Amino acid sequence: MALTVAVVGSGPAGIYTAEALVKLAPPDVQVDVLERLPTPYGLVRYGVAPDHTSIKSIANYLRNVLELPQVRFVGGVTLGVDVSVEELLTCYDAVVYCTGAMVDRRMGIPGEDLPGSVAATDFVNWYCGHPDVSPDRFTLDSPEVAVIGVGNVAVDVVRILAKTHDDLRGTDIPHDVLERLESSQVKAIHMIGRRGPEHAKFTLKELRELGEVANADVCVRPEEAVVLGGDFPRQVRGNIDVLQSWAARAPVGRPRRLDVRFWLRPVEILGTDRVEALRLERTHLVDGRVVGTGEYETLPVGMVLRSVGYQSVPLPGVPFSTETMTVPHVAGRVREREYVAGWLKRGPTGVIGTNKSDAAETVRTLLADAPSGRSTDLDTLLASKGVRPVVYDDWLDIEAAEAELARSLERGERVKLVGLDAMNAAIRNR
Ligand SMILES: Cc1cc2nc3c(=O)[nH]c(=O)nc-3n(C[C@H](O)[C@H](O)[C@H](O)COP(=O)(O)OP(=O)(O)OC[C@H]3O[C@@H](n4cnc5c(N)ncnc54)[C@H](O)[C@@H]3O)c2cc1C
Ligand SMILES: NC(=O)c1ccc[n+]([C@@H]2O[C@H](COP(=O)([O-])OP(=O)(O)OC[C@H]3O[C@@H](n4cnc5c(N)ncnc54)[C@H](OP(=O)(O)O)[C@@H]3O)[C@@H](O)[C@H]2O)c1
Repeated sequence: MALTVAVVGSGPAGIYTAEALVKLAPPDVQVDVLERLPTPYGLVRYGVAPDHTSIKSIANYLRNVLELPQVRFVGGVTLGVDVSVEELLTCYDAVVYCTGAMVDRRMGIPGEDLPGSVAATDFVNWYCGHPDVSPDRFTLDSPEVAVIGVGNVAVDVVRILAKTHDDLRGTDIPHDVLERLESSQVKAIHMIGRRGPEHAKFTLKELRELGEVANADVCVRPEEAVVLGGDFPRQVRGNIDVLQSWAARAPVGRPRRLDVRFWLRPVEILGTDRVEALRLERTHLVDGRVVGTGEYETLPVGMVLRSVGYQSVPLPGVPFSTETMTVPHVAGRVREREYVAGWLKRGPTGVIGTNKSDAAETVRTLLADAPSGRSTDLDTLLASKGVRPVVYDDWLDIEAAEAELARSLERGERVKLVGLDAMNAAIRNR
């Protein structure tokens, strides 16, 4: 009998898992990729920055997997809402959880919940047109904004804030969001690292790109760019060199200013009804730990974007470690007939390609187990519950509507439709 597998989540981990199953399993394998949204590709669609078009084109590779005859996209089906783990295990021989990491980590400081203190997850969802966040969620009416964290997501957020409307017009950014970016009042962006340039998590290519934003002066304080010791890996050395070169040049009066700061940790977000300022404490390292020096600085910002990392959420009925915020596993196996891959397995680090080898490990474990045990099928189950999934052709209708919207607005190849209603309206056979 054919092996049937449900992959839950259609981000890179889910789709690479489906691909590895088709490559490594017997030819009659059948893989259903379940997805809570009507659209596939996870963070490739709703995370990768809109102006990173070449990275976004990885979707073309992922599309080829979804179009394999052994693979089926089943959108609009949420594990834990439309279908339970127990039910899935009656429909498939094995289930692979690939639901990623969709919420923000907390900083645990006073004022974190004030209006104007925003998780980067929400801000990224907003400019990427994720249906969970309305296009009117943000008005960029503060002249000064702080972005906490010096990882690649922080760099994305800063670049989108710094660029002009014209820079972004050719991207797939939702039109309402583009209009809000056009009326942005932001003049100064402070990107805050709690350790030094040598500890920053951003990668060299992404850092350099900040220096290429024509609309913004990038400023680094020479005293914060000083780095002790010299034996750093090539990427880190590259980051330090770029930051030190910025420290050596003066601003030339561009419309926006980006201050990249180091050795400062947020201690309180200040304000009565909304964010009015950010209080920072200077830091140093003691035995490798970040420790405050008792020297403070206050930035007059009206918005604080917390880009301090993503984290996974537990799936109902699936084991979850609240220590690592991941699903415990051994080489991808969670329990009998249940597996995990991607950010839900490893935590929220690594680029898209990292998920390929990760998924392959899980699939090798799964195939060695040769799981079996299904007794019904998903279509019958969903029909009995009145759930009509979004099929691959429906997704193609959404894509076509996005291309049409781009044409009508004279913008790029595609403009994202926002909201489930707009997407459902684009599906021709609804
Ligand atoms: C803002 C941001 C930008 C990034 N940019 C880059 C980049 O430029 N280049 C790069 O190489 N890497 C980038 N990355 C990293 C890359 O996106 C990740 O490595 C990758 O997406 C992780 O894949 P995943 O499949 O585990 O998770 P995801 O891509 O998050 O996919 C998870 C999928 O599961 C679905 N899902 C969640 N819960 C359920 C449920 N209960 N039922 C059904 N479906 C569910 C979600 O809707 C989603 O589609 C970026 C990450 C972020 C956060
Ligand atoms: N273009 C790309 O390739 C691209 C784009 C976006 C994302 N990604 C990838 O996606 C993954 C996630 O990126 P990310 O930026 O969300 O996470 P990240 O790389 O882990 O960076 C998180 C940043 O937040 C800081 N931080 C954490 N807790 C903090 C706190 N309480 N106070 C102050 N600062 C705090 C960290 O500092 P410490 O180091 O001191 O903890 C770090 O600078 C990464 O692997 C990234 O490379 C890649």
